[in-house]
Amino acid sequence: MGKPFYLTTPLYYVNARPHIGHAYTTIVADCLARWHRQQGEDVFLLTGTDEHGEKVAQAAQARNLSPKVFADQTSETFHSLWKTLRISYDHFIRTTDPGHEKTVQEALERLRPQLELGIYRFWYCLPCETSFGLSEVDAAKALCPQCQRPVKQVEEEDYFLPLEKHRSWLKKYIEDHGEFILPVSRRNEVLAMLEKELPALCITRPKERVSWGIGVPFSPNHVTYVWFDALLNYISALGWPDGEKFKRYWEGAGAIHLIGKDIIRHHALYWPIILHALGVPPPKTIFAHGWWLVKGEKMSKSKGNIVDPESVAAAYGLDPFRYFLLRDAPFGEDGTFSEEALVKRMNADLANDLGNLVYRTLTMLEKHAGGRVPSGTASSQLQSEFLRVQQSVALAFSLIAPAEALKGIWDLINQANRLVEEKAPWTLAREGRREELEQFLYALAETLRVIALFLWPFLPATTEAIWRQLGFTAPLSDERLPLTLESLAKKSIPAGQAIRKEGPLFPKV
Ligand code: MSP
Repeated sequence: MGKPFYLTTPLYYVNARPHIGHAYTTIVADCLARWHRQQGEDVFLLTGTDEHGEKVAQAAQARNLSPKVFADQTSETFHSLWKTLRISYDHFIRTTDPGHEKTVQEALERLRPQLELGIYRFWYCLPCETSFGLSEVDAAKALCPQCQRPVKQVEEEDYFLPLEKHRSWLKKYIEDHGEFILPVSRRNEVLAMLEKELPALCITRPKERVSWGIGVPFSPNHVTYVWFDALLNYISALGWPDGEKFKRYWEGAGAIHLIGKDIIRHHALYWPIILHALGVPPPKTIFAHGWWLVKGEKMSKSKGNIVDPESVAAAYGLDPFRYFLLRDAPFGEDGTFSEEALVKRMNADLANDLGNLVYRTLTMLEKHAGGRVPSGTASSQLQSEFLRVQQSVALAFSLIAPAEALKGIWDLINQANRLVEEKAPWTLAREGRREELEQFLYALAETLRVIALFLWPFLPATTEAIWRQLGFTAPLSDERLPLTLESLAKKSIPAGQAIRKEGPLFPKV
């Protein structure tokens, strides 16, 4: 078994249907997971749904359904979307899974001696499922500091986990571990939050107000706060405290949590402190990415600007959709989603650059080489070019920068297209320069093989089509990177292999 690698997405709320924001985090996670699998690593990719809390209960009530039946339905739409988007997750956790509920109760029992019972007065934002201290909200306006929607004031008796006594530890931990919170702008934001005293975290809710939650074992009148419940998924899915997977992936590899910047506070303050209080080491990295905006605004139901990933993928194809999200905005920064921008990328990068290279290469192989890979060798110059691109891709992945990785791969694609123009194989054919022609076509076919390998984490369907058309029968997913000079010498595309040309990979829109 290879080196363990543990990667998670947030658990998505089941109160609404999935949108491209959810698809985004999950596609990036899938891309990373595929890359690490190509490196021979033992990857565990976790995703799932967050199913408790007031918001879900209310959404269910509005539909005249029990929370569980409603959660079953929406959780299923996430399942089926991940299938459509070819998300290669290893486990899909639901916070209503009995195993998860048991783990949450076990954690509460273990924390019990540290908890304090007190009166909780707060502003509560239902859409964010987040409470704010009395001083954090302007009472005259009563708007959520995070999403600007109305908040309400609540007062009740609850259990609290004191955070303040962990503050200096967390601050030092963040300062000492450069890759703990990324990107750096988010790390600074969290360090700034740690300059002020941390109010205790209220981790229960009275049953009479919120009934849809995990019962608190030592207090029949309370259920668990939905965020406390949900965060624990990252270790409950691994069978904490004694599970083999917990040892292998949490302790052995260290978790990489991909999240959106909207939930940095929960992941970078509350979660490490909950773990610390439980005596569990923190995750390795929390990477908070930006938002996809539509016409400059965050998507929301009230604005009616929600983009449905299922219909975008159906209209333009899965891989163009994946490509756009992975390429158009640097991971960590905001991006703007529009169909025009997607079409532009699709026509330029996919149809013109990649699609054209594949189509013209296969056409030339048919026309000038009898539909077979001619005999030839990949020059050492070409091989070192492959290795150079590989290095840049590996560096980009180590920084969780998929857009950068794509830029490196596109250098290779653009270079190959340029070479076709310069070499003009059709002229070589006309002038009967057979050997030169075959050598050039061989190099092009080999370049396509390597491009398919590099692009597989991003464009699984497209690269499988390239693979098939190049005449390979073994699955592309079984191929391993990194390339080495030795593997390039041994595994370069076999001369004589019959190609199977199909239509263009991408229609021009
Ligand atoms: N259930 C909590 C997370 C619990 S994790 C233990 C939650 N769920 S959510 O359904 O609201 O999903 C939030 C996540 O969806 C964000 O962190 C981000 O990953 C993704 N996105 C939601 N909207 C987004 C955009 N507009 N753009 C990009 N991603 C965003 O919060």
